[in-house]
This record gives sequence, structure tokens and C-alpha cells, in this order.
Amino acid sequence: MAATDSVAIVHLQPGDAAAALALSTEAQWNQNEADWRFFLASGIVFGIVERDVGLIATAALLPYAQGNAWISMVLVTASRQRRGLATRLVDACIEEATRQSRTAWLDATPAGAAVYGGLGFTPTGRMLRMRHAAAMATKVPLLAGDFEELVARDGRATGFDRRAMLQELCGRDGSRLVAQGGAIALIRDGRSARHVGPLLADDAASAARLLAAIVQSENVALLTDVNGDDHGFIDNLTASGWSAERPFQRMRFGRSNVTASAPAFAGAGPEYG
Ligand SMILES: CC(C)(COP(=O)(O)OP(=O)(O)OC[C@H]1O[C@@H](n2cnc3c(N)ncnc32)[C@H](O)[C@@H]1OP(=O)(O)O)[C@@H](O)C(=O)NCCC(=O)NCCS
Repeated sequence: MAATDSVAIVHLQPGDAAAALALSTEAQWNQNEADWRFFLASGIVFGIVERDVGLIATAALLPYAQGNAWISMVLVTASRQRRGLATRLVDACIEEATRQSRTAWLDATPAGAAVYGGLGFTPTGRMLRMRHAAAMATKVPLLAGDFEELVARDGRATGFDRRAMLQELCGRDGSRLVAQGGAIALIRDGRSARHVGPLLADDAASAARLLAAIVQSENVALLTDVNGDDHGFIDNLTASGWSAERPFQRMRFGRSNVTASAPAFAGAGPEYG
């Protein structure tokens, strides 16, 4: 990383993945080094490096198709919070998104939403992170899903193409793309739990059946980020052993240029949308 002075914003490089991971781990987030490597290679990651301390804050902008971008990995180490660092870094992301004529989206934690609201982001929906404890290892096999189907259905659910990101997530060691009864889902490694999403299905019942089958086919803790306004689906998951962990507020900066034509029952995680 190229530190200039104690408060300058720098562009982080792939070699900064370990330092960035230390920040997300401090916040007890689930991202692993592979997540950071992808942001550092495919997006723009702004950072603040303090002399003699190292990396103290980050924010990433990941370009998506059709004039969209996702902002994520907004992190400030605990001892440097409430000094305006997140505001400066997200401002840098907005400036870059505007320069590239992109609408910026993000999924905010409650603390993050307090920062972004002041910067002109508007709420567009809610997500809810749910967790399932490790199930007994029955290891029921599941059919493999089709990658092209995932890309097409994800495109209908988000309103834009996310092939490159999905290819990256599907291609990682430990990732599984599974399908059953009109539903398809991606499961990938995280730092402390496996993450399920995107989860795309014709209806809530088939989405819930696939999630139940995934629980039976994994023997580790699982996380999934569902539509926070879909109370029927959330109740169904709660009855199946999932518990609500934390809310996220989906927010947008700029005009929406997309129309989703199908529901997503779980997203790709707050960092990817
Ligand atoms: C959320 C986070 C990035 C904020 O970073 P920060 O550098 O402290 O934020 P800023 O100093 O730019 O805050 C700007 C304003 O946002 C609001 N704000 C920031 N953190 C807040 C919090 N925890 N609770 C309520 N309001 C908050 C305040 O209005 C603040 O202005 P003030 O300090 O003058 O009152 C930081 O707390 C953090 O890393 N948290 C853990 C990870 C996380 O939740 N990241 C956000 C992901 S979406």
C-alpha cells in the first residue's frame, strides 16, 4: 500500500488483502481473504493508512453492468471511529461512481445507514441476515445447478447482469451451486460461516424447501440474507431453525435505472448485493 500522510486516501492494491481482512475480522464480519482479493482486483478500494499503525479504514466500489455499482466494505477500526473517516471514504466512492456515470447501491448496517443518510443515499428496501447453526452431518446430496440459469435468474432479480461476480463466487474452492424443484442457490465459504445466496426460486415454498435441503447437506453454520419485508418467508425460516441476526438497509445514491422482474429470496451478501 502507498501511504502518503496520516489521513490521505489511497487506492489499495491486491497486496493489501491481509490488512483489509484484519479490519473486517475486527468487525466480526464473515468476509474472507478471497472476498477482499476480488474487491481489490475487480473494484476500486479506497483506504486510509496511518503512519506507524497501518490500514485503519476502507470502502470499496464494485462496478456492475448497465451503469450500476455496489459500495461495500466500509470499515473504520474502532479506535478511529467518529472522526469523519467513513464519510470521506464513501464520498470518494460516490465521486468515482459519478465520474463513471453509475448509480451506487449498498446494504447498510444500522451504523452505516447513519453515515450514508447524511450523504444523500435513500432507503430502497430491507434485508435480514439469518443464521442456522450447524446441522447434524447427514450430508444429503443435492443436484448441481446450472451456472447460466443462475446468471439469467439473478439478472431478472436484480435488473442487471452480474456474471463476473457470480463466476468468481462459483469458481472458488468450496463453492457449490445447487438446484431443486424450481429453485437454485449458491453456497460459498465465509470466514466463520458458509453463506447461502443468491437464492432464486419461482416461489417462497420452493425457496424454503431448497434452503432446508441445503441445511441437511452442510455440516457447518450457515448465513443467508433474505428480503427483510418478506415476513411470510422469514416466519417459515424461523420455524425451520433459522434465527434473525442483523438487519441491513438497502440504499441507493442516484436515480434507479433498473427494473427487477423476479424476486430474490436471498441476496449475494451485503458486500455484493
Ligand atoms: C459505520 C462506520 C463505518 C462509521 O465510520 P466512522 O468513520 O465512525 O463514521 P463518520 O465519523 O464518518 O460518521 C459520520 C456520521 O455518521 C453518524 N454515525 C457514524 N457512526 C454512527 C454510529 N455508530 N451510530 C450512530 N450514528 C453514527 C454520525 O452522525 C456521524 O457524525 P458525528 O460523529 O458528527 O455524530 C464504523 O462505525 C464501522 O466501521 N462500524 C463497523 C462496520 C460497519 O458497520 N460498517 C458499515 C457497513 S454498511
